Amino acid sequence: MEKLVIEGGVKLHGEVEVSGAKNAALPILCASLLTADSVKIRNLPHLQDVTTMLTLLGHIGVDVELDEKMGVVLRAAELNRLQAPYELVRTMRASVLVLGPLVARYGKARVSLPGGCAIGQRPVDQHIKGLEAMGARVKIEQGYLSVTADGLVGAEIVFDLVTVTGTENLMLAATLADGVTTLRNAAQEPEVLDLAVCLIGMGAKISGAGTDTIKIEGVASLHGFDHPVMFDRIEAGTYMTAVAATGGELLLKGANVNVISSLVSKLTGSGASIHFEGDQLLVTAPNRLNPIDIKTAPYPGFPTDMQAQFMALNTIANGTSTVSETIFENRFMHVQELNRLGAKIEIQGNMAVVKGVSSLTGAEVMATDLRASAGLVIAGLIAANETTIGRIYHLDRGYERIEEKFGRLGAKIRRVSG
Ligand code: EPZ
Repeated sequence: MEKLVIEGGVKLHGEVEVSGAKNAALPILCASLLTADSVKIRNLPHLQDVTTMLTLLGHIGVDVELDEKMGVVLRAAELNRLQAPYELVRTMRASVLVLGPLVARYGKARVSLPGGCAIGQRPVDQHIKGLEAMGARVKIEQGYLSVTADGLVGAEIVFDLVTVTGTENLMLAATLADGVTTLRNAAQEPEVLDLAVCLIGMGAKISGAGTDTIKIEGVASLHGFDHPVMFDRIEAGTYMTAVAATGGELLLKGANVNVISSLVSKLTGSGASIHFEGDQLLVTAPNRLNPIDIKTAPYPGFPTDMQAQFMALNTIANGTSTVSETIFENRFMHVQELNRLGAKIEIQGNMAVVKGVSSLTGAEVMATDLRASAGLVIAGLIAANETTIGRIYHLDRGYERIEEKFGRLGAKIRRVSG
């Protein structure tokens, strides 16, 4: 089992090039299932979750040709297995995104229920409700979703709550349905819009993506396309928060500041100064951090995927702050690990109260989920002397070469096995 060893207390300085967005790449890879033509997807991040999705698509029968620059050409001409097996789905919940396209194009699919994960139960009832509204028949048997349809029909679907992959799954399915589908209370995340841009390039008729109401007029078939995946706003936010926390300066390349405005305003509130020109952001840390209250919310609110990272920043702020998690029911597992590093955090229901301390001290900690581990990396970069983070396979799911990128900023961070 690999670990990260960090010698903290170093101010970070330098440049980072943002990678392609994991949470845009995953649904966009599934869009290839909707056509027999070749679909080229570029700017893929080199991540475990992307490898898992490509393995799953290959398992289903999609021809997958990776090029040397993490571009891929996918061709779903002859599919031999319309199913996503448990051993793949259990390692990556986003596998459920093959459901919509397979049912839309082939009229059936068998996908393992994703099961819960560390941060919460994470049901897929909204995905099921939407497919049934479009005429699909859904059975749950032996832990699998078995879905059949004699051609999907456009429907009016109102989500009971905002769901990112629920919105994406049903948008994918609706592109080939007979008639118009309207998704209300839809997720407005930029990754949903990036998927829509790719689908429209493939010939889909979609309007309203990026708002809470998306209209999809079904078409008979889709064709190939060449799409570059948008930048990863959570990766970008992680590096920006890390530099603000260590007291350094960062030039971030390849980010679009318009889709990270909630994070920019919170970081500015903490005292960091952020200047941007085109797709380059210059982040300069303050000498002393102000405590900043956070409440996660669906986009354009503060992203839940940045909650742990910002909590790490708050641990050394000049006062007390609160961090409220409204999206997932169990996304505070980093709290006890941060307290092992000397933080003073108390959980009160879905709110954590963070009393700022003057410094953190290195210790052995354990990663529990992807973004919690990112928070622990930031805390390790802050803490004096050595922090060791175990189970970093969680990190590799969502961060490309994290020790290299932080190393280039001057961090003393290395990956060790054992
Ligand atoms: C996406 O997960 C992201 N993953 C998550 O990022 C992100 O944290 C989450 O959206 C929220 O922004 C991908 O895009 C691959 P949801 P998703 O459906 O779609 C409940 C990361 O770190 N819900 O928006 O699975 C659910 O339990 C990952 O990169 C239902 O009750 O999240 C949760 O409480 C972690 N029924 C809330 O809605 C459903 O049918 C939001 O979940 C669907 C969801």
